[in-house]
Amino acid sequence: MATSARQSCLKYLLHLAQDNLDFRLPEIKSLLALRGKPFHHSGNFQEKTPFWCLDGLSEEDVRGVMARSVCAKSAFELWGHGKTHSELKTSLLKYPTENMSPFMCKDSTYRINVYTFNKTLEFEDRIKRIDSMDYLPFEGTVNLKSPQHIFCLLEDYGTDPNDIPEHPNYIYFGRWIVDGQRELIRSHSVKNRHFIGNTSMDAGLSFIMANHAKVNKNDLVFDPFVGTGSLLVACSHFRAYVCGTDIDYNTIHGRGRSSRKNKTWRGPDENIRANLRQYGTEDMYIDVMVSDASKHVWREAALFDAIITDPPYGIRESTRRTGSHKDVIKPQDAIYEESHVPVTQAYHLSDIFTDLLNFSAHHLVLGGRLVYWLPVYRPEYCVEMVPLNPCLRIISNCEQTLSSHTSRRLITMEKIKNPEELDSLAYLADPRFSPYQGHNAFREKYFSGVNKRSGKEDNKAAVNGE
Ligand SMILES: C[S@@+](CC[C@H](N)C(=O)[O-])C[C@H]1O[C@@H](n2cnc3c(N)ncnc32)[C@H](O)[C@@H]1O
Repeated sequence: MATSARQSCLKYLLHLAQDNLDFRLPEIKSLLALRGKPFHHSGNFQEKTPFWCLDGLSEEDVRGVMARSVCAKSAFELWGHGKTHSELKTSLLKYPTENMSPFMCKDSTYRINVYTFNKTLEFEDRIKRIDSMDYLPFEGTVNLKSPQHIFCLLEDYGTDPNDIPEHPNYIYFGRWIVDGQRELIRSHSVKNRHFIGNTSMDAGLSFIMANHAKVNKNDLVFDPFVGTGSLLVACSHFRAYVCGTDIDYNTIHGRGRSSRKNKTWRGPDENIRANLRQYGTEDMYIDVMVSDASKHVWREAALFDAIITDPPYGIRESTRRTGSHKDVIKPQDAIYEESHVPVTQAYHLSDIFTDLLNFSAHHLVLGGRLVYWLPVYRPEYCVEMVPLNPCLRIISNCEQTLSSHTSRRLITMEKIKNPEELDSLAYLADPRFSPYQGHNAFREKYFSGVNKRSGKEDNKAAVNGE
């Protein structure tokens, strides 16, 4: 069979990690979109399960996705599947021999792994499973240490650890192709990072954000609330050029008190550039500077391919902006006197998000993405609360629970229109785009929710960003 014909009938199986469940589908869809490919699943798709069957892709596509994904563990060329071992056998025997034979020929070496989800099998049972595959025409030699080809029998026993069935709910068999990038979560853990603060973003979530943003090689990425630069670390790993701003002079200049245990002051080289150096991506560092996101300093142009950020919620860090405590009226042309040294005033959450969306509408390239965290008070959350902008389309909205009453949602938006194309009067009159005031209540409700339940657990989860 010609390679292209062989490719077109192949299905691929992804084995996904069972954490950050909400973030997985947008991650895989975004990574496929980077390759210009849609997400096509085969059969009955259940998003929360650890196994997904994908259609319409080439092995190169799958390798491309897996070279970026932190949600997917491994990918397989799917040879057969079924609800029982007998169904699996029937399916495998129907699989075209010409697809199998290149990997089963006489002078090749191979190994078969048995993987069970939500159940541990005894060693003898694993061997029995392997022996029962003797109907497959393996002609090569078994090599457990370094085989040329690895095959895997995967059994799915559901996701409920308190209700593990005797027999698997579903079984798959396939040729292992490649693993995902789960290792990045360990290698980039903030525990071993040179420069951190108490709001540093977890490594896994930082990579997920970069993937949702479709950050690509040579892109220019901006974080307006950069903090210790965790999101820049993730984007620079994917070879994007990175820059950021923060209102906090000490954070930007790596001065002040250290967040590390048993250390009082930050050392001489504790800064964002040194973090990138630690991971070998200093060449992607543009710069960071002290600046207030509410009065940005950028020229009016579509400068950035992606804006990814974790705005302040006012829980672990204050929400501040420059200005006096008296009411300040923004000058129309947004020009401030150079000599003016502003004090700070409160920066309300609703304003932060309105400003962020507005800034993104003006400064993203068309098709560029904004990815940011939106804190929500769960009992009152509804999808209408997510701020909108007529130049930006919502791509995904994923929840990370912080406590029983609070969570944050990772919002991904894509720029679909330039602000000049808008009918500004119609836009201003449209209630869907008016600043949402509900976020201002978030902090108050967050704390009252936590206090009501004397919530040590909740506090801990929120502080860890879990
Ligand atoms: C949640 S933290 C970001 C943490 C960051 N992602 C990291 O990994 O360290 C929010 C940051 O916003 C900054 N910030 C607060 N108000 C700001 C403003 N008006 N303009 C710019 N940055 C601001 C804070 O100093 C803080 O560093």
